Formats: sequence, structure tokens, C-alpha cells
Amino acid sequence: MNRRQFLVVLGTSAALPALAWSETPDDTYEVIDVGSLDDFEEDKVYDQFRDQGFFIIRRADEVFALSAICTHKGCKVRSQTDQSFLCKCHQSRFDKDGRVLNGPAQIDLPRLPVKLSESRYVLVRVKKLSQ
Ligand code: FES
Repeated sequence: MNRRQFLVVLGTSAALPALAWSETPDDTYEVIDVGSLDDFEEDKVYDQFRDQGFFIIRRADEVFALSAICTHKGCKVRSQTDQSFLCKCHQSRFDKDGRVLNGPAQIDLPRLPVKLSESRYVLVRVKKLSQ
């Protein structure tokens, strides 16, 4: 985590890492409601949001969003059974935290800003994918 990140303690055993995001409207981003925090109780990679460009990951007491867009040339990576990520375009591999294991990608998969709504729904801010 960098300095702009912090943990929002949720009053239960879970915490949601929150990255600051501007409330100023920006047409290049969208906020996606991925469902109730209660939908992410099991420690695993939730890959149903891959087509939207990210994964939701629950690990111990933390829930976070990780970009599914390869930092090499923009293909979508796939989660593997060991929770690492593979890009089939040119075989870059990333560990379970999105750190590059082998290239050609040189940059880690970034975490995306997340927030918890008042009704405990997880909101993810993503850059709109080009059509
Ligand atoms: S686009 Fe992923 S390795 Fe090239």
C-alpha cells in the first residue's frame, strides 16, 4: 500500500482498503457496485468482474480490487488456481498481490480505489474500457 491508502475498519473482522478518489465527476471513470460486502466472505479471487477489468480479492481480513488489465499491452489477465495471474498474450505472470513474477510486463497490476457504501456495498472506481 502507498501513503494514500488506508484501511476502513468495518466493525466486523473485515477491512476494506480505501484509496482516495476524487468526488469530482470524471467521464473517463465509472463506479461499479459489485455487491454486498457479505458476498465476499470466502478467501479467494472473485473473477466475475474480469470483463469489467478487475478482480475482487478477499484475503483474511481484507477485501480489495486488483486490475485485470495487463500492464504490458493491455490484455486481460486470468486468475490461476494458486491465486497468481497469467496473461496469455505474452505470458507475463503476476503473484497473488499483482507483482510481476516474469515479463515482458515490467509494472505490477495496480489496486483500484474501493469504497464501502452506507448500506455496505462495495464500490469500485474503474477507468472506462475503450469499446
Ligand atoms: S499484454 Fe500481457 S504479456 Fe503482453
